[in-house]
Amino acid sequence: MTSLLESIKGVLGAGHKGPVLGIDIGSSSIKVVLLEKADEKVVLRNYGELALGPRGGAAVGQATNLSTEKISEALRDLLKETGITARHTLIAIPFSASLLTVVELPDVGRKELDSMIPIEARRYVPVPITEVSLDWWILPRRKSEERPVLATGVAPVKQIGKIEVIVAAIHNEIIKKYESIKRDAQIPGEASHFEIEIFSTLRAIVGRDMAPVLVVDIGAGSTKLALVDEGVVRGSHVISMGGQDITLALAHSQGISFDKAEEIKCRAGMIGEEEGRDVLAVAELLLANIMNETVRFVENYERKYSTKITKVILVGGGARLKGIEKLVAQSFSTASIAIGNPFVRVDTPAFLDTTLRELSPNFAVAVGVALKGLEE
Ligand SMILES: Nc1ncnc2c1ncn2[C@@H]1O[C@H](COP(=O)(O)OP(=O)(O)OP(=O)(O)O)[C@@H](O)[C@H]1O
Ligand SMILES: [Mg+2]
Repeated sequence: MTSLLESIKGVLGAGHKGPVLGIDIGSSSIKVVLLEKADEKVVLRNYGELALGPRGGAAVGQATNLSTEKISEALRDLLKETGITARHTLIAIPFSASLLTVVELPDVGRKELDSMIPIEARRYVPVPITEVSLDWWILPRRKSEERPVLATGVAPVKQIGKIEVIVAAIHNEIIKKYESIKRDAQIPGEASHFEIEIFSTLRAIVGRDMAPVLVVDIGAGSTKLALVDEGVVRGSHVISMGGQDITLALAHSQGISFDKAEEIKCRAGMIGEEEGRDVLAVAELLLANIMNETVRFVENYERKYSTKITKVILVGGGARLKGIEKLVAQSFSTASIAIGNPFVRVDTPAFLDTTLRELSPNFAVAVGVALKGLEE
């Protein structure tokens, strides 16, 4: 396996020749994107999505927990349906299947860290360390911390001689599971690599912003948070609530089926007269719960580093909920709120403009992991 952690690099590195396939196996649907580099531009060659709900006795838009065999079968069908063939394939690993921690360690050099980190990681990893694959990366010191005293008059947090290291752990069983999906789904391409999904999202979404940015991926079953500061991830968190909880609440409050509630939520969103008001009534409460946890996570970071996030970027299917920016803005009054579009730096056919603009938040992970393939 290649490195689990990647800094956000530009997409115009040496890269693979030929089309690269990016795969995001979400809890509610699989997304695939085929990208190719042509004349120094990244071009969209193909894309597709397949809902997993109906393959596991659940509805479209509902989170599933399918067997490896069923996932492989669904992915194989999706690739067949889209007619995708690729020279190289990359798969994103769900954030919830990984453990990502920032630890403060003495600045003892890489060799020492290599032996120190597995020992240190035992404090954070709840299973025997021999059962996980570990990767780590030294976080560059924040520019603001290089000054003896911050502009705010607050002393820098870190003591001299300490460094921050981001450590990723993935259970070997999870890697085995993805290896077998790769094999059974007959994934095209010479080699396949894995990456934790938030790194894929960030590659596709966050530009060269140096100010602290929060990326919120609202999936079906969970919401993933990543805090990027001075160009690198410095914090992450997962909340076990997502878009399906809004649908479930709407179905209960209106006494309608999940399918019907999902249809209303996706069509009306939180705007419009009657239906929009019904969706708003339930979504407001659920999003408030998600946002409260998000604000707590952000405030911890802001307090620790005497900084303030300037921007919140929303992705994932949940970010397509009409009117969501306004609700999120209530929790982040000093930051700007945007819906992330992973296709902005990708050349796409004009006739797909409207469709892709609609779908784009869902495809952040798939585009991001394919971009990694073009960089490698
Ligand atoms: N137009 C829309 N308006 C509101 N919600 C939407 C819309 N389209 C999709 N969603 C919601 O987005 C969610 C699915 O998002 P996404 O595809 O990002 O999830 P996933 O990647 O499968 O899940 P996870 O990341 O949690 O594993 C569903 O709850 C669905 O109802
Ligand atoms: Mg997802």
